[in-house]
Amino acid sequence: MNFSISPALNLRGCISVPGDKSISHRALMLGALAEGKTVIRGLAPGEDVRSTKHCLQQLGVSIQEKSGKIHVTGGLGLQKSETILDAGNSGTTMRLLAGILAGQPFSTTITGDASLRRRPMRRIIEPLAQMGATIKSSENGGAPLEIHGGKLNGIRYQMPIASAQLKSGVLFAGWGAEGETVIEEKIPTRDHSERLLRKMGARLSVVNHQSTVISVRAGKLYGGEIEVPGDFSSAAFFIAAAVLLNGSELMIKNVGVNSTRTAFLDGVRQMGAEIEIVNVRHESYEPIADLIVRSHPLFAAPMSGAQIPLLIDEIPILAVMATQAEGETHIRDARELRVKESDRIAALVHNLRAMGAVVEELPDGLVITGPTKLRGAEIDSFGDHRMAMAFAIAGLLADAPTVIHHAECVDISFPEFFEILKNVVR
Ligand code: S3P
Repeated sequence: MNFSISPALNLRGCISVPGDKSISHRALMLGALAEGKTVIRGLAPGEDVRSTKHCLQQLGVSIQEKSGKIHVTGGLGLQKSETILDAGNSGTTMRLLAGILAGQPFSTTITGDASLRRRPMRRIIEPLAQMGATIKSSENGGAPLEIHGGKLNGIRYQMPIASAQLKSGVLFAGWGAEGETVIEEKIPTRDHSERLLRKMGARLSVVNHQSTVISVRAGKLYGGEIEVPGDFSSAAFFIAAAVLLNGSELMIKNVGVNSTRTAFLDGVRQMGAEIEIVNVRHESYEPIADLIVRSHPLFAAPMSGAQIPLLIDEIPILAVMATQAEGETHIRDARELRVKESDRIAALVHNLRAMGAVVEELPDGLVITGPTKLRGAEIDSFGDHRMAMAFAIAGLLADAPTVIHHAECVDISFPEFFEILKNVVR
């Protein structure tokens, strides 16, 4: 599907965004492992989370929707799947499930779409093999993965890259292993797995000194109610649009504001924007708030180092914002972007140039010089949901209509994206 975006004046109104994708995957998986029923409210509606749900159902887990809530019946043990599991486009599904499957007394094959099959899996295979699993991959170290599970032993593991998927895969395996698993993380990444494991009763400790040390042991998990906050990464596209379009005022309600996810807000504030966080609720396992965003002129600010993993999914939209900021925005230390749903550095350079932006490609990032009046253009989403949404927002700023090719990929994380956008732009 091609989607045409017309230039807009501004954004006004009040919106909500769908449930957090990262938390939704974890809620389903841990719900399957926990004793009793887990009832999830606000599960993310996109295809990625549907992939997790289908994989778990193939492993014999009962997951049903009742009056808008998802009921997972857990604690009954997983069953061998007679068919290959399909993680679709979802790296989180594959890497986190690999951690769970490594500890099961049966073998499973898990694959994904063409994009996922290109993504690196050795990073998760290596620690799981150290724990005792045997995992075969394709020659290039990717999916399909053939996971021969069994009894695992706890390990001491120093994270070689900043990846919450890797950390979570090892944590989930550690939860099913004999003895203690200790993970040392030098550069912090999103901590949803730790929070949810703890909420569900896991024996998990987190100690922060110069690095974060997370220890987990086998034990019972207990089902219960899980409320999934709005996805900050989905909100980011609307935050950007409201900051960029003069005269905008937008409220975004019930957004997850876990500080391991909101570095984008700090980055955008460094660029000069003012965003109010109101009605913060801390009572839950994850903090939730409402955001009020108004338009503001921007100037360039550097983004690098430990900041990057905490805003990794927001870099496509941040790059669009940088085209409107006064000066040179240097985004560095973001090599991981090359192995996301698309090579996001190459895709950004291609599409930003198509719109007339001044951008230099670096091995680990980009330099964007602004401000530039963007041109309406034909945009290739590269089948990447965040690319499609980032350039839809860019299209609002352009001098003529912009066409996003394969725009249906927004369904991966945010199926209602275009509809909500239509309701708030003028
Ligand atoms: C995610 C972690 C991040 C992020 C991805 C979701 C998660 O990936 O980019 O969209 O849910 O743990 P990495 O772990 O590869 O950095």
